[in-house]
Amino acid sequence: MTAHLDNHTVPSWDLFRKFTIEKRIAFFALDRHPVHILYARQFTRTFLDELYILTNKIRLIAKTNHGKSWLSTLLENRRVMLYFAQPSTRTFLSFATACETMGMRFYDVRSLETSSEMKGETFEDTIRTFSSYFDLVILRHATPNYAEHAAIVLNRSRRPIPLINAGSSKDEHPTQALLDIFTLRKSFEKLGGLSRKTVMLVGDLKRGRTVRSLAVLLAQFAPIHIIFCAPKELAIDDEIIAFLKDHNVTCTQTTDFEANLPKTDAVYMTRTQSEYTDAKSLASSSKAYHTAAYTLTQKHLNHLKPNSIIMHPLPRKNEIAREIDNDPRAMYWRQVRNGMWTRCALIAKIFNIEKKILDH
Ligand code: CP
Repeated sequence: MTAHLDNHTVPSWDLFRKFTIEKRIAFFALDRHPVHILYARQFTRTFLDELYILTNKIRLIAKTNHGKSWLSTLLENRRVMLYFAQPSTRTFLSFATACETMGMRFYDVRSLETSSEMKGETFEDTIRTFSSYFDLVILRHATPNYAEHAAIVLNRSRRPIPLINAGSSKDEHPTQALLDIFTLRKSFEKLGGLSRKTVMLVGDLKRGRTVRSLAVLLAQFAPIHIIFCAPKELAIDDEIIAFLKDHNVTCTQTTDFEANLPKTDAVYMTRTQSEYTDAKSLASSSKAYHTAAYTLTQKHLNHLKPNSIIMHPLPRKNEIAREIDNDPRAMYWRQVRNGMWTRCALIAKIFNIEKKILDH
C-alpha cells in the first residue's frame, strides 16, 4: 500500500508510520502549525542561523535584572508539561529553567509510576489529556517513534498544541544537537566558522542519540569532515553515513582514537549507552568500551591543536578525565549552560515571539 500525504488532513498513526523519513519531515515542516520539534532533519540552515542570533540576543537581554523581568513577561499565560519517562538531569532542568526564564509555568511527570498509564491508560489518552491543560508538551521517552506518534495524536485532538522531542529512544535528541551546534559555532566564531572544520564523534555511536542528531545537523555546515571513532560493535549506522555523503560531508570511520586526535578541531566524547544493553552483551560491550582506547586523559591534551575544543553531551562515566575540566578547550560545562539559552530561543520561535525579542 502506498501511504499518501494529504496536506489538509492529519493521517492516522497507522498510515503515518508507513511514510518515508522524507515524507515525515515534509509533514512536520516547521512552517506548519502547531510546530513539533521531532527530528534534526527538520532544521534548515536558515532556521539554525535565526536560532543562533535569537539565542545570543536572549543571553544578552538576560544579563540585566530589567531584561530578565522583561523576558519573564513574554509567555506568562502559557503552561508547559514536561513529561520525562526516562531519566534526565540537564535536558529536564534546562527546559524547566528556560520555561521559567520566558515566564511559563511548568508541571512535570518524571516517572511512568506516577502516571495513569500505570493503570492501563493508553498513551494516546495521556497525550490528549495534556492538550486539555497545557500549551506545550516536552517529551522524553524510551519507546522508538513515541514523539512522532504523540505529535500525530495532538494534531488529531480538538486542541492541537506543539510538542518538543527531548530525547526519544536511541533515535533522536534534536534539541541537544541545537545546543551542540550553538557551542560549536560560538567556539569557532573568530576562527573562520564551523564549515571546513573536522569534528570527531567518539564512543557509542550506534545507540547514542545525541551523535545521530548532531551528525545530521553538521551537514548544514558542509563542507565539513566528520570522523566517527568507535569500537566496531558500536559503529555509526550506515544510514547516517549515506545521508552525510548525500549532503557533501566527508566521513572517516575508525577505531583508532589517539591517531585521529591531532586532526580534529572538535572532539565530541560520549558514554556507553548501557541502558540499552541486554545482560548477555553487557559484559562484552563494557569491556570493549571501558578500555583507555576511548577515554580522553591529560596525556592526550598535548596531541590536541591549541584551538581544538572538547565536548560531551553529559552525563559522562569515565570518557573524559576530571582533571581536564579546567582546560580552556573543555566546552562541556558551557554546553550545559548553552542548552538553557538555546531552549529559550526555541520556545520563543515556537510561540512566534522572535521579532519582539529581536526588536527589544
Ligand atoms: N545531555 C542530556 O540529554 O543529558 P540528560 O540525560 O541529563 O538530560
